[in-house]
Amino acid sequence: MKLTEEEKNRLEEIYQSFFHNELIQRMKEVPMHRGSNCFLHSFKVAKKAVKHALHYKSVDVEAVLLASILHDYYLYDWRKDRTLLKHHGQRHPFIAAEHAKRDFDVNELVQTIIKSHMWPINFKCFPSTKEAMILSYSDKDVAVLEALSSKKHKAKKEKKYLEYLSKLF
Ligand SMILES: [Fe+2]
Ligand SMILES: [Fe+2]
Repeated sequence: MKLTEEEKNRLEEIYQSFFHNELIQRMKEVPMHRGSNCFLHSFKVAKKAVKHALHYKSVDVEAVLLASILHDYYLYDWRKDRTLLKHHGQRHPFIAAEHAKRDFDVNELVQTIIKSHMWPINFKCFPSTKEAMILSYSDKDVAVLEALSSKKHKAKKEKKYLEYLSKLF
């Protein structure tokens, strides 16, 4: 699917407004796979998911973008609290969807995409749309790469990453 300049600019504008948003910045405080944080992880997923989305016809790319940025917008550190750890995998997509609705008033489609991103851990919550499958796949793809890279390597690369992640296209 080929985007017009206007569509591209609109997606870029949305992406950047989230990238610099104060509420979204809080995700930097939430640690993620081996030295990464929720902010870096989410924007990596967003870039990847939009890239994947453009390979298909008739995908709501804006919904993919919003859901990707907000899919882990749960804002707590499950490593610090054992009670949160227990059901984190199953629960956090629902918490993130609720926060996304509360803070950014995202529509039903975006919330549904967020809720199914942890399939098959949430076995009953199957990603039933193209948009949801794209996010679920892109999230796993990024998570595996993060898990494989060392903490030291990540710290070195963080500045470069931030530069790379500051733009969608
Ligand atoms: Fe997640
Ligand atoms: Fe994620």
